[in-house]
Formats: sequence, structure tokens, C-alpha cells
Amino acid sequence: MEPTYKRVLLKLSGEALAGSASRGLDFEIIGKVCDVIKKCNEAGVEIGIVIGGGNFWRGVKDGGDRMERTRADHMGMMATVLNCLAVADVLEQKGVSVRVQTAIEMREIAEPYIRSKAVRHLEKGRVVIFGCGTGCPYFSTDTAAVLRAAEINADVILLAKNIDGVYEADPKLVPDAKKFDEISYSEVLAKRLAVMDSTATSLSMDNSIPILLFALQDPENIYRVIMGEKIGTKVY
Ligand code: GTP
Repeated sequence: MEPTYKRVLLKLSGEALAGSASRGLDFEIIGKVCDVIKKCNEAGVEIGIVIGGGNFWRGVKDGGDRMERTRADHMGMMATVLNCLAVADVLEQKGVSVRVQTAIEMREIAEPYIRSKAVRHLEKGRVVIFGCGTGCPYFSTDTAAVLRAAEINADVILLAKNIDGVYEADPKLVPDAKKFDEISYSEVLAKRLAVMDSTATSLSMDNSIPILLFALQDPENIYRVIMGEKIGTKVY
């Protein structure tokens, strides 16, 4: 069976890598996610990954009014690198070829982000993990995911979350809230639905990159959506 998508940008939240502890790294979960990434890689899918950093530090929430915003965001960018290195290492242990590129130069640790090199790595079958978000404060790692997806011409953004789709209301508060199979960007923005922040949402709308949002709880979902199975919600 041929994958539906040839080049994808996978966004993983940092919290998802922490498992139930919600802080730090749960290598059992990372291992399961990496098994599926390996399976997709072996199916010939080109995979770029952006990872959040919330399992170590959430700029605004953790810095709050105790820190200057830009510096708190810089700490968040560095938190993403911890996750990138952990995921890269586990992928390598599983025999997957991987490169880490960071938006802020730290050459002793990773390659600097160079778009054309990233694309070359993808073409050679390497997984590319993008660290440090966009490299700019005030931008989320969701925005980084959309930006990198646009730059590498990804077919789709895979938003693996702790919720299984986009709902008309928070299903924890409204148990019978309706889940959307598909929804347009403009509707997401107009209804202020919690898919991504509005900067990330409008960037993907302006660049016509569809988003598939689904639950990471079962990591196999990553493979399922790449193979065209309709789970979660498609934002287009
Ligand atoms: P090609 O040979 O162009 O296909 O790519 P390559 O990544 O295999 O070759 P390159 O010589 O660029 O890199 C060899 C190894 O060094 C890879 O593991 C890279 O990730 C790593 N590397 C390349 N540039 C840097 C850098 O600036 N900093 C760090 N830390 N590693 C780098």
C-alpha cells in the first residue's frame, strides 16, 4: 500500500514525551513513537519533526511575570533541543538515519537550520528534527511546525496531540461536544477553536497546508493517517 503523503511535518508536543509524569522524558513512550516513525521512514515517507518543549519549560506559563518574556522564550527554545536530541538518539538506536538542525546556532551540538540541507537530508531518506522553534520569541513551536512545513513543501502537518480531534467545545467540560471530521481554517479562527494558536493557524491557512489532528496516545495513529486512514480531524 502506497502512503497518501510523501513528505510530512510531524509536530509532537513536549508534554506527550513526558507521559503521565508531564515533566521530563518517558523513554518508553519515546521508543513507541520512534518505532512508528521508523515504520513510516521505511515506507518511504519523508519526515520532518518539530517538537515542543513544555515538558521542561513553558515560556509564558513558567516565566509568567517573574521573567522578561524574551528570555523566558529563549529558555523554551533550549528546552525543545533536549527533546530533539532525545528523539534523535532513540531513532538512531533503532537504525534510522537522522539529522538535528536548530534555528539558533549551537554547532557543537547540532547542524544549524539550512533549508536546502534539510531538504537534501529528507531526499536521502533521513529524518530531520528541527530544534529551537522558529528561533524567535513570541512564536510557538506550532508556528515553527507550520513554518518548516511551508519551507520544506510538506504535503501535510501531522498534529499529534493529547486529544483525538477538533471539538466544537472542550469535551472535558462539555461531554457531548461534537467532534469535527473536517473543518476549514476560517471556521477554526472564527470560532476560536483550540487547534493551534492563531498565528500558527493563519500561517497554515495562508499557505494552504492541511493539518491532520489526532491522538498521540496510540502512536500507530501517525502511520494510519500517513496511509490515508481518516481518523481525527482534517483542517483545510
Ligand atoms: P551529505 O553528506 O551532504 O549527504 O550529509 P551528511 O549530513 O551526511 O554530511 P555532513 O558532512 O554534512 O555531516 C556529517 C555528520 O556531521 C552528520 O551527522 C551531521 O549531522 C554532522 N554535522 C554536519 N554539520 C554539523 C554542524 O554544524 N554541527 C554539528 N554538531 N554536526 C554537524
